[in-house]
Amino acid sequence: MSGTVLGSFLAHGVDLLYQDDPVLAGLLEREMRRQSEVLTLVAASSITDPSVLAAVASVAGNVTAEGYPGARFHAGCAVIDEIESLAIARAKEVFGARYANVQPHSATTANEVVMFSLLRPGDTILGMDLSAGGHLTHGAKVSVSGRAFHAIGYGLLPDGAIDFDRVRELALEHRPRLLICGTTAYPRTLDFARFRAIADEVGAWLLADITHIAGLVAAGLHPSPIDIAHVTTTCTHKQVYGPRGGLILLGREADTPTPDALGKTLADSMQKGIFPLFQGAPVLNVIAAKARALARLATPEFRELAGRIVGTAKALAADFLAAGYTVVAGGTDNHLVILDVAGSTGLTGVIAEKALEASHLVVNKNRIPGDTRSALVTSGVRLGTNSVALRGLGAPEMQEAGALVRRVLAAVQAQGEKDFALDGAVREAVIADVKDLCRRHPVPRYAAS
Ligand SMILES: Cc1ncc(COP(=O)(O)O)c(C=O)c1O
Repeated sequence: MSGTVLGSFLAHGVDLLYQDDPVLAGLLEREMRRQSEVLTLVAASSITDPSVLAAVASVAGNVTAEGYPGARFHAGCAVIDEIESLAIARAKEVFGARYANVQPHSATTANEVVMFSLLRPGDTILGMDLSAGGHLTHGAKVSVSGRAFHAIGYGLLPDGAIDFDRVRELALEHRPRLLICGTTAYPRTLDFARFRAIADEVGAWLLADITHIAGLVAAGLHPSPIDIAHVTTTCTHKQVYGPRGGLILLGREADTPTPDALGKTLADSMQKGIFPLFQGAPVLNVIAAKARALARLATPEFRELAGRIVGTAKALAADFLAAGYTVVAGGTDNHLVILDVAGSTGLTGVIAEKALEASHLVVNKNRIPGDTRSALVTSGVRLGTNSVALRGLGAPEMQEAGALVRRVLAAVQAQGEKDFALDGAVREAVIADVKDLCRRHPVPRYAAS
């Protein structure tokens, strides 16, 4: 550890952790080792840079600071005001936004804030169905979005693309006050302008939730919704490679009047929607970490990484297609590859996920369009390349990874097991190959791995 003030302090804290709480320290160490030895293909995750994690571990979190920079309800906020202002400035610059709120604790909170500050409970919202690739917060019955609002869902065409004719029909029929575009399992490019045209036709607000594709948007590899949607939300722990949290962003309509909403303008409504409507004091150490992650997004190196995210996903999709697998939507434009494992191998998503996890290949089970299985079983798995692209894997390594995934699934399939069972020799051989792949591609800047 360097001799800097922060470095010495963090090293001291780690020493105390080992000394005072070896149980917890041991668990944290085990998790660190696990992450270095597995190939994480979970589309909803990424790997956080040590400099971002250092900010999370900082004493900025000691400050209670309800309110916003320059307008706090507590004293002692001069420095953390500068930290939050820095995060806001960076978020605006990276996404080309006119307004940024860096306080949301998560993308879930960000979405709820948008809904509850612009709508009234009972209003109609129109979002993508969970089963088609939408997110819980876009109107699912198990989420507050589906309980507090009258939620209508749209879906996909047989080729896996969004069925815009149906979106428009549903919008005309139900007259939603909010149209949501944004997905959690949609491998194709989102046409924000088309959504905006429909929203305008029925007088709805348009929310773009770019949680999954924020990095591609920042890098200019996916069209940006910032000046098209009324409001854009994202989490900061997937493609922003930051700490767990969310952002609310507004573009050219930041000052649009919102007479029926919480505040006088869109920006004012979002500001009041976060605090005091939904949250109390912001988490300043996490906001410091957001500032750090956002600065990394603005670099040429990040643009390169974003290119690799898409390149590796396309290579993975092509590899599975060449091997005869059914890939949802026939391929990918982003970081996601969704496999119809039931159609391709006869296995359910949950069995595939468990067998792969036991082999150090981490994916997640996922429903596929038209799925008849529950979310806990599923017919598909969802793969994502945020983490492997950061580790520097390229197209040839994705073929290696794809072959390892198929080897595991074929071994389970060959046993004809209903429940997960995987031949031990296959598992050990695959683990050895995964560890080798990981050794060749250690997480950059994670000196300890
Ligand atoms: C599209 C979308 N929105 C929102 C969320 C919720 O994010 P968070 O975990 O930050 O609440 C997710 C999570 O995966 C998501 O995919």
